[in-house]
Amino acid sequence: MPLLPPRDLPLLSLLALLSACTGGFSDPSRELGEPVSGPATGRVEIHRPPTMGVLDTPLEDVHGAPIGVACDTCHGPDADGEVLARAQDNPEGMHQGLEHRHGDLACDACHDPDDRRFLRRADGSRLEMPRAMELCAQCHGPQHRDYQRGSHGGMTGAWDLRRGDRVRNHCLDCHDAHAPAWSQLDPVFPPMDRGTVQQRTADSGSH
Ligand code: HEC
Ligand code: HEC
Ligand code: HEC
Ligand code: HEC
Repeated sequence: MPLLPPRDLPLLSLLALLSACTGGFSDPSRELGEPVSGPATGRVEIHRPPTMGVLDTPLEDVHGAPIGVACDTCHGPDADGEVLARAQDNPEGMHQGLEHRHGDLACDACHDPDDRRFLRRADGSRLEMPRAMELCAQCHGPQHRDYQRGSHGGMTGAWDLRRGDRVRNHCLDCHDAHAPAWSQLDPVFPPMDRGTVQQRTADSGSH
């Protein structure tokens, strides 16, 4: 076979490359799965912090965790008169120890002044406690938009809803409603790729 002129070399190497590829991965465990098709039937569920709308008491259960009472116990039409009377007798006043560092918001910016079991929107309308995220969204539009797009707040389960269900964190899983600042650590690993690893290592001192 005569030597190929140099101008055919690129073609030749392309052919060599293509034929190498048809053999698949040299490590079979890295083989890609079957492509998924069909509708995205996975469900998106937002985790609800179990402590939401529960007031911790100084009493502890057998595991040493504080025993909580629902807001209803003292606030609202079915309030337990006896418990309420004792709470009102509290010489230090009720909820005084609460750490509150959230802009300079008044309690009633978020809590319904007429019924403490509820939150309130900016227009004064009532909002059930489990829908607290709508409250956050009113003042933090950009973060809520980022959250809905998946770039704030993290998730577990399937990214591709054709492959399964997904669970999203609630704002209150990461931020305390009364002192929401996040300081010391990253709760989720930031996305990494080869391009940014070096960058991150370089400025990891500032995190
Ligand atoms: C053990 C009884 C008790 C429980 C349980 C309780 N509260 Fe209260 N709360 C009080 C009393 C007493 C006051 C002061 C008098 C009042 O405003 O009714 C008060 C006042 C408040 C205030 C007004 C504070 C201020 O300084 O303006 C808010 C807001 C509030 N409660 C929210 C809640 C929420 C939310 C829950 C449930 C997660 C809850 N409370 C559970 C007894 C209780
Ligand atoms: C930015 C909105 C916001 C402000 C301002 C706010 N709260 Fe809350 N508060 C919430 C939300 C949301 C919850 C429910 C989440 C939870 O239980 O941690 C809550 C829960 C509570 C609870 C029950 C559980 C707990 O965390 O202790 C009490 C009591 C309470 N608030 C009282 C107050 C008082 C008193 C003030 C004013 C000093 C206040 N809140 C200011 C949003 C707010
Ligand atoms: C009524 C408006 C309002 C609502 C409702 C509200 N925030 Fe805020 N938030 C503020 C203001 C004002 C600041 C302070 C901004 C600043 O100091 O630059 C703030 C600051 C924050 C910060 C940054 C804290 C810091 O010091 O860096 C976080 C995080 C936050 N809010 C989360 C939440 C979450 C979660 C909720 C829902 C429970 C919520 N906010 C509800 C007005 C609100
Ligand atoms: C998985 C935990 C997590 C969840 C869930 C989460 N956040 Fe954050 N959020 C953070 C962290 C961490 C920061 C600090 C980011 C930084 O310093 O760059 C932050 C920062 C913020 C800030 C301050 C401004 C900023 O961008 O630095 C606001 C406001 C805020 N979040 C609101 C929200 C709201 C509203 C929700 C719910 C829709 C939410 N967050 C859900 C972890 C979370």
